[in-house]
Amino acid sequence: MLELADVDAFYGNSRALQGINLKVGAGEFLSVLGRNGVGKTTLMRSILGLMDRVTGRLALDGSDISALRTYQRAKAGIAYVPQGRGILPRFTVRENLMLGTFAAKAPDGIEEWVIDLFPVLKDFLNRYGGNLSGGQQQQLAIARALLAQPKVILLDEPTEGIQPNIVEQIEDVITRLNREHGITVVLVEQNVAFARRASHRFALLEKGRVVAKGAIAELTDDLIQRHMAV
Ligand SMILES: Nc1ncnc2c1ncn2[C@@H]1O[C@H](COP(=O)(O)OP(=O)(O)OP(=O)(O)O)[C@@H](O)[C@H]1O
Ligand SMILES: [Mg+2]
Repeated sequence: MLELADVDAFYGNSRALQGINLKVGAGEFLSVLGRNGVGKTTLMRSILGLMDRVTGRLALDGSDISALRTYQRAKAGIAYVPQGRGILPRFTVRENLMLGTFAAKAPDGIEEWVIDLFPVLKDFLNRYGGNLSGGQQQQLAIARALLAQPKVILLDEPTEGIQPNIVEQIEDVITRLNREHGITVVLVEQNVAFARRASHRFALLEKGRVVAKGAIAELTDDLIQRHMAV
């Protein structure tokens, strides 16, 4: 469904990703793991077309998307929940959600099922995004991405810096998006336990390269020790 072949990605002249080969099947859940600075966010940005330069092949459902602009990739069905959430602080919750609907191929307003996933947002529709807690902003960012009606959702460290009880809710929603709603998920994650619970497959990055990948059952403690321990 989503396929990267021999992908290199650059910030200016500096190469941040090298020779990435990854496939995510429809309905699959892929976790991208690795230490700080190995290129996880860069990989997400490359899929979205947000890098200075990307070489190699990127395909969605068999069609090459390498030449598409970011908004066209969104309309093609790729949604993104960026690291740091990207909530517009002086837009209300409702306005932040509307931004997601603009990226949909067939916009259908603020869909009920999305709000139902995050009941807290319903009470805060007229509040400024910037006045929400970190956990609430993260829920808003996921809801906004879902309103773009994605086939695949890219989530970059969605539980980073969030208090434990909200982390559980967010993990639960991400799991349900995949299992109940059939949305393909690419998750960047530091929490190996959650990745193991939720994913079908994993990819481990080191210095801009994929150093291990496979079925989640093949993610051994030894791999984690070698490529994730600090
Ligand atoms: N805007 C930028 N300009 C130049 N280099 C950058 C830029 N952003 C990131 N890099 C470099 O690219 C490499 C990969 O960074 P990236 O943000 O993708 O890592 P990451 O795995 O997401 O890290 P983290 O776990 O800290 O979020 C790092 O060496 C980083 O310093
Ligand atoms: Mg990152």
